[in-house]
Amino acid sequence: MARPDWAPDEIDLERPSIARVYDYWLGGAHNFAADRALADQALGVMPSLKSAIMMNRAFLRRAVQSLAASGVRQFLDLGSGIPTVGNVHEVARQAAPDSRVVYVDRDPVAVAHSRSLLMGDAGVAVLQADIRDPRAVLDSPEVQDLFDLGEPVAVLMVALLHFVPDSEDPIGIIRGYRDRLAPGSHLALSQLGTEPGEEPEGWQRYRDLYAASVTPLSSRGHAEVTAFFEGFDLVDPGVTRIPLWRPESVDDLEPDAARFPGFAGVGRLPG
Ligand SMILES: C[S@@+](CC[C@H](N)C(=O)[O-])C[C@H]1O[C@@H](n2cnc3c(N)ncnc32)[C@H](O)[C@@H]1O
Repeated sequence: MARPDWAPDEIDLERPSIARVYDYWLGGAHNFAADRALADQALGVMPSLKSAIMMNRAFLRRAVQSLAASGVRQFLDLGSGIPTVGNVHEVARQAAPDSRVVYVDRDPVAVAHSRSLLMGDAGVAVLQADIRDPRAVLDSPEVQDLFDLGEPVAVLMVALLHFVPDSEDPIGIIRGYRDRLAPGSHLALSQLGTEPGEEPEGWQRYRDLYAASVTPLSSRGHAEVTAFFEGFDLVDPGVTRIPLWRPESVDDLEPDAARFPGFAGVGRLPG
């Protein structure tokens, strides 16, 4: 297969990546045959996935809008993915033109494409890093040069933590960020998950497929997602099914929103 000029040398074109599968689902062009095959297979076993992904993106937009409206001007987008319509800096700047964003991902295509798209934009930086190492992220030149950590930061973990199993201590990882943030900082997160007996059609086959091809998915229910906000005050309406977090129009909703396979919330660091 010919390697396009935007594909960094180190990536294996035959192995699907989380970021490129997600790019394909969102209608992007930065993916390969192996990514598209897995993405199509997943949609085949769980048809509601397409709407789930769109609902997640809509949550990201609403969360960033509300954070910008509440005065946050610094956004740390962890697991940011391959840039697509409605990127965090675009949404934030509509509300607050002076917003600054650091995008963080470990995927080389996501990072290379983000850098080429954002080159020359003084208010945006792109960092290739593993989000499980908060110190490396927060001490990076990208964060240190662009952010004032004495001022509130919004940490975004959108459609990310289902890739971090409990054995890797996601609560401890979040704490690693939280303990370095100024009062008034926020955490916004969403992740896939269901409550027992509410799994959508194909849920287990979808998880099996991901476990066999890329990485296992750690599904979590309402209580487990709420536990991620340790030390934060949840803002209204608390942790909800993703479409039910401050929906703005019927486009943000879906018929089965109350059983949607994913949860979201935003918390504020008091003080
Ligand atoms: C499903 S995409 C979500 C993209 C975006 N946040 C959104 O919601 O539209 C998840 C992203 O997280 C990245 N990711 C997963 N685990 C990561 C880790 N440990 N460190 C950095 N990035 C990670 C993947 O590379 C991928 O781009």
